[in-house]
Amino acid sequence: SGPPELDATARRLAAAHDVEDLRRIARRRTPASVFDYVDGAAETESADRRNVDAFGRVEFVPQVLRDVSSVDPSVRILGKPAAMPLIFAPTGFTRMMHHEGEIAVARVAERVGVPYAISTMGTTSPEDVAAAAPGSDRWFQLYMWRDRSASQELMARAEDAGYTTLVLTVDVPVAGARLRDLRSGMTLPPSLNARSFAGIARHPHWWINVLTRDPLKFAALEGGAGQFMELTDRILDPSVTSRDLDWLRQTWRGRIVVKGVLSVEGARDIVDRGVDAIVVSNHGGRQLDRAVAPLDVLPDMRSALQRDAEIYLDGGVRSGTDVAAAVALGADAVMIGRPYLYGLMAGGARRTAGVRPLPAGFHPHPGPPGGWFGGRRGPSPPAPPDGTWL
Ligand code: FNR
Repeated sequence: SGPPELDATARRLAAAHDVEDLRRIARRRTPASVFDYVDGAAETESADRRNVDAFGRVEFVPQVLRDVSSVDPSVRILGKPAAMPLIFAPTGFTRMMHHEGEIAVARVAERVGVPYAISTMGTTSPEDVAAAAPGSDRWFQLYMWRDRSASQELMARAEDAGYTTLVLTVDVPVAGARLRDLRSGMTLPPSLNARSFAGIARHPHWWINVLTRDPLKFAALEGGAGQFMELTDRILDPSVTSRDLDWLRQTWRGRIVVKGVLSVEGARDIVDRGVDAIVVSNHGGRQLDRAVAPLDVLPDMRSALQRDAEIYLDGGVRSGTDVAAAVALGADAVMIGRPYLYGLMAGGARRTAGVRPLPAGFHPHPGPPGGWFGGRRGPSPPAPPDGTWL
C-alpha cells in the first residue's frame, strides 16, 4: 500500500458522489486564492448562480416501458466519434490547481473519449499536451491577441502539434471583474502576502509549477503580470469584431468553434461567416455579471440556426442529468469547466478518472444499516500504484 496521505485521498474520493462533493474536497486541499479563482465569477456572481438554477428548473416527463438494457450515449462531435456529448472546456492556469495540470486533463479526456480544448492561458505547451495524450481529439482555444502575429504563431504551433479544432473565445473583450481575485490579491506569478504564503507553505508544488511555465505563451508575463485582470487586458485585443472571423477562416484550415455567444442575431452573423459550431456560453458567469443563462437561450438558438452549425452549451452543467437536459433543449454537446477542475484539485488524474473499476469487495456507499443487499461495508480501497489509473 502507498503512503498514508494517498490512502486518505483515495478514501475521501471514494466517498465523493457528485460534483459538489468534489468541490468540498477541492476547497480543503487547495490554497484559498486558487480555489476562489476557480470557484468565483464576476461581480455578484449572479450569472454563475443562474446557470446552475436554470438546470434546476427543467422538468422531465419520462417515458416508461422502453427497453433500456443497452444505452449508447456516444455521438459525433464535428464529425468525430465521442463517447458522450461532452467536451472539456478551456480553463487557464491549470497547473496552478494541481501540478499534473493540463496533462492530467488531456489523459482523462483521451481515456474517456471526449475532446479537450486547451486554453491560450495554458500552463503546459500544446506540444507537451499532444505528446501526453496522442490519441485524443485535440482542440485549441484562442484569444485574439493585440499582437496578431502572436495569435498566428500560436495557431501554427497548434496545427503542427495536430490540433484539429480552433475555439475562438469572444466574450472577453475586457477582463471580467472577479472580485474574489481582487480581494485575495491573486497575482501572476504569485506574490507572497500573508494569506497566499500560508497556502504555498502547505502546497509548495503549485508555486513551483506556475513559475516553470511555457516561455512562448508567457512572454507577455516578463517582469510579472500582476493581477489576472491586468494580464488579460494587457494581452487581449478589445477591438475584435465579426470581420476578424473572415481572417481566421482564411488562416486556420481546420474546424472553427466560436465560444461565448448568447444573442441569436449575433449567432446568425457568426455562422454565416463559415464557422462550424458555436458555444452558447457566458463563460461560467465569469465575464458579464447578469448575462443570461445559456440554457435559457438555447431553444431559440436552435430554432434560429436549425442545422447550419453545431451548438454546444456550457455554464452550470453539474451532472449527467444536466447533460440530458441540454441535449433535449437543442445542444449537440455540452462543455464543462469547473466540474473537472474540482476533480483535479481534489485528487489529480489518477484518482478522478471516474472510469476505474472499483476494487473487488469494495462498496463505496454504506447504504442503510445492514446494507441494501444484506452486505457489509467493504474496506477502504487500496491506494493506486502511481500512474496506473491513467
Ligand atoms: C474558464 N473559462 C475559460 N474559457 C476560455 O475560453 N478560456 C480560458 O482560458 C478560460 N479559463 C477559465 C478558467 C477557469 C478557472 C474557469 C472556471 C473557466 C471558461 C470555461 O471555458 C467555461 O466556459 C466555463 O467554465 C463553463 O462553466 P462551468 O462548467 O464552469 O459552470
